[in-house]
Amino acid sequence: MRNLLSALDARDHVWDILKKAEQFKKGQGPEKPLSGKSLAMVFEKSSTRTRISFEVGMYQLGGYPLYLSASDLQLGRGEIIDDTARAMSRYVDGIMIRAREHDDVLQFARYADVPVINGLTNLEHPCQAFTDIFTIQERKNTLDLQMTFMGDGNNVCNSLLLATAMVGMDFTVACPPNYEPDSIILKEAKKVAKESGSTIKVTNNVREAVDAVNVIYTDVWVSMGDEIEETQRVRDLQGYQVNQDILDLADPEAMVLHCLPAIRGQEITEEVLNGPQSAVWDQAENRLHVQKAILNWLIG
Ligand code: CP
Ligand code: NVA
Repeated sequence: MRNLLSALDARDHVWDILKKAEQFKKGQGPEKPLSGKSLAMVFEKSSTRTRISFEVGMYQLGGYPLYLSASDLQLGRGEIIDDTARAMSRYVDGIMIRAREHDDVLQFARYADVPVINGLTNLEHPCQAFTDIFTIQERKNTLDLQMTFMGDGNNVCNSLLLATAMVGMDFTVACPPNYEPDSIILKEAKKVAKESGSTIKVTNNVREAVDAVNVIYTDVWVSMGDEIEETQRVRDLQGYQVNQDILDLADPEAMVLHCLPAIRGQEITEEVLNGPQSAVWDQAENRLHVQKAILNWLIG
């Protein structure tokens, strides 16, 4: 069964996904390739972009999306994942899940008979990472670039580590001690990067990390589920804000990405988020086109 649980699962398909997303964006993709197909979308956490892009994407591809809040399902009353996945597979052609625990998505995939898509877990956010690569390719017309991720080495950072390694983009993570990306993913990404000829660096030195880079990326300091650590996190991550001073150290043509939602004044300033080098609104739009490419790949 084909799944998208980790960005790595798309290793052999990344270029097709990018190409298909471009076709969909230009209105040149296949017409209604998912006619008659349904997608269950299970959400254990909040979402704006992921929910809307999957829902509208399914509609535009001729399919039917079902929004399912985990707390409204029997899952919320204790029905086990195994049984939920088995039953759900009898109705739908694919399942997208946004879950607190990555292991729960793996468990879903173990028992589902249809493709399972990770719509964000504590460990990864693969659909976001492919959108980010697509947005860079769209704006820069090349992926032979250097990107620096600033802040918390979180789920978004983990998937970007893998996705950039797959397409051969140099990737640096600038984070404080104890905020490094997942060590297993880091190791895996380094293997992939070696094959694609790109480099990966993790450093505490912000100024060095952004020196002349082409893409600066950031995400919230307090991810969903980390709220209890907010005070500590905001204190620890103070020096890792993407602001104009930092941007001035990068390549003058550097672009700024943020998966959103953003907290202005924490990980990014308003000036940069809505400044001329920001591509965040295109990035948000591109979730739709890339989602359609992913759906077409997995359940088309
Ligand atoms: N970037 C992203 O996944 O946004 P949502 O949480 O709004 O889906
Ligand atoms: N790292 C963030 C991403 C939100 C899209 C979170 O997990 O909350």
